Amino acid sequence: MEEVIKIRGNRRLNGTVRISGSKNSTVALIPAAVLGSEPVTIYGVPQISDVRALIELLRELGVKVDQPDEETLVIDPRGMEDRPLISDAVTKLRASYYFMGALLGKFGRVLIRMPGGCYLGPRPIDLHIKGFEALGAKVSYPEDGSQEYTLLEAPEGGLRGTRIFLDISSVGATINIMMAAVFAQGKTVIENAAREPEIIDIATMLNKMGAKIHGMGTNTLVIDGCQELKGCFHEIIPDRIEAATYILIAAAMADDMWITNVIPQHLEAIIAKLEDIGINLDTTNDAVHVFNNLPNKILKATDITTKPYPGFATDVQQPFSALLTRSKGRSTITESIYAQRFKHLPELARMGANTDVSGATGIIVGPTPLHGARVTATDLRCGAALVIAGLMADGETEIHEIKHIDRGYDRLDKKLKALGADIRREIVD
Ligand code: EPU
Repeated sequence: MEEVIKIRGNRRLNGTVRISGSKNSTVALIPAAVLGSEPVTIYGVPQISDVRALIELLRELGVKVDQPDEETLVIDPRGMEDRPLISDAVTKLRASYYFMGALLGKFGRVLIRMPGGCYLGPRPIDLHIKGFEALGAKVSYPEDGSQEYTLLEAPEGGLRGTRIFLDISSVGATINIMMAAVFAQGKTVIENAAREPEIIDIATMLNKMGAKIHGMGTNTLVIDGCQELKGCFHEIIPDRIEAATYILIAAAMADDMWITNVIPQHLEAIIAKLEDIGINLDTTNDAVHVFNNLPNKILKATDITTKPYPGFATDVQQPFSALLTRSKGRSTITESIYAQRFKHLPELARMGANTDVSGATGIIVGPTPLHGARVTATDLRCGAALVIAGLMADGETEIHEIKHIDRGYDRLDKKLKALGADIRREIVD
């Protein structure tokens, strides 16, 4: 028995969709909140399974979590205990690794299981570990010596600020090292730091709590260690990847759609590509309006290379691929972040797309009409690509492994139904 999503496609969609708080911010803000010695209130929390798994982990640590309404989390770490994080919940998501930095910072030690998350090819965490070591932490692998369990221990006297150069501008390593460094003695400088908006969001919340983080949004983050953090109220930034997904849905299927609670500046590379291929859209301060894209309009082909922010986000190339099946000619997507992030292309091919993969480049030749099929969401953004394709296709699409979609898209079926989509969940054998 498995829950699937079924979509009857080829229906025009219209109306307004409100974007939720950023998943990739939220999954770091929740661990960051335990660094304080008072409750932290986080507003704009998306209803996704990654958040539920993190709440489970907080409770394992003795943290009190209240949800006064569906968008608010109150995280009270006053009764928190120094316990190992080794339950299955750790393996449900990638972001459980943020407890490495948070607990190392808070307690000076942490024993944690290897995180899970979407398989996008190898996803090492060597840069996180090197950063913790540079701050003085001892790293060991207890139990069987495999890297299934990691033990991090600060030296006598605590972590010490230092200069760390990241070989790759890793989002996760930047955030994790920043969290550990908040209580380190002296100054920590992270060079070649990632600049994603989510990093600014985490640093903003930590600074509201009393941290001294400078240089947010640049490649050099400077953290002056402090003694204690207090509580705060923080509203999460809108999810730029969810926003991009709905803009793509609108580009493919809407006569007129508003995507609200958006920071258009976070989407510049994606909006520029959409305009290049021939999509009509406009932006206001906090919304994107997609209009007048006729269903039979032939779009232009394009070449995309994924890049760290502010470049074209790797998380958007998969959903963008679905729209590129409408483009005339050969479009290419070159992955510079995750060379193997193309599992969605064979799934789109089941629906009639003409796709290929050559090295780190995905190829889509169009235009090809799409038809409904039984497909599998191999990872979160593959799921988004299949939903878009399902909305575009003739007939019924049945998407399996939707647990990946539920990890990152807040009430997707409800939002799409409100726009006029024929989408439902069903239990099948
Ligand atoms: N990398 C290393 N060593 C490390 C860390 C990263 O080699 O220690 C490599 C990765 O293998 C990858 C590149 O560096 O090739 C960039 O990885 P990064 O660390 O920036 O990615 P991440 O922090 O694991 C976050 C998002 C991803 C998003 C990437 C890139 C979260 C929880 N995840 O992952 O989001 O694709 O940044 O922007 O924030 C998604 O939302 O679907 C998703 C996968």
